[in-house]
Order: sequence, then C-alpha cells, then structure tokens
Amino acid sequence: MANNDRTKGIKDLRPAYHQEGAEEAQRERACIERIKNRPDRPRTYFVATMGCQMNARDSEKLTGILESIGARPVAEEEADIVIYNTCCVRENAEQRVYGRLGYLKSFKQKRPGMKIVLCGCMMQENTVIEKLKKSYPQVDLIFGTYNIYKFPELMEAMLDSPDQIIDLWQEQKDIVEDLPSIRKYPFKASVNIMYGCNNFCTYCIVPYVRGRERSREPENIVAEIEALVKSGVKEVQLLGQNVNSYGRGLDHPITFAQLLEKVNAIEGLERIRFISSHPKDLSQELIDAMGRLDKVCPQFHLPLQSGSDRLLRLMNRHYTKDQYLDEVRRLKEAVPGVSITTDIIVGFPTETRADFEETLDVVRKVRFDGAFTFIYSPRVGTPAASMQQVPPEESKKNFQELLDVLEEIGTENMKKWKGQTVSVLAEEVSKNDSRMLSGRTVENHLVHFTAPQCLIGQTVDVVIDQTTAFYMIGHLRDEVAE
Ligand code: 5AD
Ligand code: SF4
Repeated sequence: MANNDRTKGIKDLRPAYHQEGAEEAQRERACIERIKNRPDRPRTYFVATMGCQMNARDSEKLTGILESIGARPVAEEEADIVIYNTCCVRENAEQRVYGRLGYLKSFKQKRPGMKIVLCGCMMQENTVIEKLKKSYPQVDLIFGTYNIYKFPELMEAMLDSPDQIIDLWQEQKDIVEDLPSIRKYPFKASVNIMYGCNNFCTYCIVPYVRGRERSREPENIVAEIEALVKSGVKEVQLLGQNVNSYGRGLDHPITFAQLLEKVNAIEGLERIRFISSHPKDLSQELIDAMGRLDKVCPQFHLPLQSGSDRLLRLMNRHYTKDQYLDEVRRLKEAVPGVSITTDIIVGFPTETRADFEETLDVVRKVRFDGAFTFIYSPRVGTPAASMQQVPPEESKKNFQELLDVLEEIGTENMKKWKGQTVSVLAEEVSKNDSRMLSGRTVENHLVHFTAPQCLIGQTVDVVIDQTTAFYMIGHLRDEVAE
C-alpha cells in the first residue's frame, strides 16, 4: 500500500490503571519475546540521538530493545525502522528533524515497509504534534519522554496497525527499572539518577517536556552500578538535570553527597563523574565530598548561563555573579587542580554589552577548562520568549568574542600538562589516525596517544607531548608487549 493511501488514526495506548514499575518491565519483556518471533519484525535499525546525555541514555534503551528483538544497526536509508530521538532545547534542532523527515519520505515511498518513529523531548510539545499529524503522514509512531520504556508495546502496535500511532503522556507514572539497553562502550556507562527539573529557568523548555524532579531509589542506582562494574565498567557518569537536588522527594530523603559516598564504595569502580549541577543548590557538603572521595573525578560542570546579576534574575537562576565566583573558589580550594566547565547563553532577552562584559569577566576570573556556548533561542511557552529580544547581529558578534576568549584561556590552561604523565582511560581508535587511541583524563581532557588497540578499555599512563585548547597529544609512558 502506498504511504499516502494509509488511513491514519490515533490510538490511545495509555494503561487504564496505574501499575508498578516491575510489572510494567515484565510486560515489556514479554512483548520483546513476541516481536522476536514475528516474521514482520524489523531486521535493521537506525537510531539518531539529537540531544543531551539524557537523550543519549534514552537512545541506549531504545537500541537495547531493538537488539533484543534481533535487529542490527545499518545506515539510515536502508533501515527497516528509523528512530529520531529528538531534542527541543533550541529551535534549530527542531528544524533539523523536519528536514530529515522530508529526506526520508522518498526512501519510504520506494520501500513502504520502512517504519519511521519519533520520540524524545520535542514530542512533548503540542504545537509539534499538531504539525506532524497534519503534514508528516510518513511518521508511523510518536511517543514522548515519559513512556520510553513502553517502546516494545508501541512497536508491536505499530507492526499490527497501518495507522499513525501517537502515545504521549503528560507525566511520569512509574520509574521502570531493568529493561535491556545497549552501551556504546563496555567500560563506561551513564546512569540516570533522577529525571525532570523543577527550576523553570525562564529560557528553558526542559521542565515542560521532562516534568517535575523524580529521584531513583539509591538502592536501585547502586545495584545498577554494581552490575555494570561486574560486566566490566570502570567509569560511570551519573545523570540528572540538577543532581545537586537529588534525593529530595524520596520516602527516605538522602543528599547527592550521600549518594556519591555509596557509589564511591563500590568495589572495582574507578571513576565517577556527574552532570549537571545547578549553582543555587551546590552545598558545602558536596564540595567536601568531592575533595574526600577518591573515585569522584576532579571535574565539575557548573552552568553559569550569564555573569550579569540583572540577567541571572531575569533567567530565574537564584544566584549572583559573586555567589557563583565564591562557589568556584571553594571548589578549587577543596579539589586542587579541579577542571571547571560551564554552559553560557549569549543574547538572552535585553542583554546589553555591559551584561555580556560581566559574563566575560566571570570567564576570565574562573578560567574555564571548557564551555558549551549557546546563542539564545526563544522557545514557545517559556517566559523569556515574550521578553524584549536583542538584535541577532549583536549576539553573533558577542558569541564569537566569547569563543575567542574561551579558546585563549583553554590554550593557556592546557599548557601546564606538557611533559606531565596523566592517567587516561583509553576509549577508542582516534578518528584521524588509526595508530592512535583516544581517551580521557580524570579531568575529562581528551588525549590522543600512540598505542596498540589492545589497550582500549584500559587505564594507562600517558606522557603529554603537545597541547591545544581542546585536546592533548602524547605517548605511552611504558612500553607495551604486543
Ligand atoms: N536557548 C539557548 N540555550 C539554551 N539552553 C537551554 N535553553 C536554551 C535556550 N532556549 C542551554 C543552557 C543549558 C543547556 C543545556 O542548554 O545553557 O544549560
Ligand atoms: Fe533547564 Fe534550568 Fe532545569 Fe537546567 S536547571 S534543565 S536550564 S530549567
């Protein structure tokens, strides 16, 4: 049947009653078994991760389910099932999705059996769904951020029905543990410790699409990491929109520092990282724990957003420039050599040159080791979208200046590593040179070094020969018997 002949309907697959997470997981696993035995199951898949680490972690869950039904990864154009795991933090990420759907349409016309699936943050926006229903009939299945664990059931429904299936929830019902997932690396893994965000920064759409903060039980987190370590994982990254407020809503509340303590005690684990922190919730207890716990890496991602007190207020960030600088000072004191990275937005509504210079001032004072920089993108439904916008040319000019200053500081910061021996977890063969491996130091600096592939997954000592703002080049300190 040609794609445009299909009669599209919408199915509401919401469960009629609230179920426990364990039962849900069992139901999904049974569904995976049924799909595995279907002759019309997808044999090949392609999953595009379009957003942050949380989005990437969700993709691992989707991939795990697809692998469990016996599908294997291929190029997008050849896949039986194509999944776009979308992001909506900035407008251009959304435009890319529409563009790619247009591109896929011709492939689907030639091969109507191809299934196109959309999920992730962008799907939680009503305006997006209206547009997809109206203009993108090539999409077979749409679901959101709260019901990702139901992917097996949704896939089964998609295989059973010619209709466009849309299943969107407005809130999380359960935190479902224990579904299959596929990790990119066997030796490092990301672990969700909480979902959602309560902060409502005025520019940000995340609280609207990922809902309120929900922490996982510490026992479940520890059990998951113990199992990961048994399977060969050396490094974990704990994920949450604001890990500093971890544990607040639990029946037996615990702090993030206390959770770190428990994770640090897991035998065999080597490195612990976490993102993201909110400066308004950074406690002295956490700073002290960073200094004390040997497996917690000397690296801290502390999103600044702006250095202007006026803009921080308009952003609803609940801290001042001086408070931020004081936190950085205390972190550097407690964790000597700590690497500090940040997020910065340029061109927030009403931003003046004077506001931007306050941001530059913080950048120069902190001397960040890295930064994710963004030009403000108005998001419908957020308070900042209806504030006075600034001319894009000005934002672009300031943005470039910020990049230049960050690069200059990064270059200077990295010079101190030249001639030093650093401990590197070797991750993969370097993209530009197959005789080299790439890996990360405890500070999360990227290192390329000449070494045999058998060292992938090992922590090795590397002597640094050369540095740039973004990476270092080195050689193994000790000879390796191949
Ligand atoms: N425009 C630009 N950047 C944004 N971020 C979040 N929302 C927006 C937006 N509307 C940035 C913030 C946040 C990071 C994940 O994305 O810096 O910390
Ligand atoms: Fe968005 Fe602010 Fe929550 Fe981060 S803390 S996800 S920027 S609302």
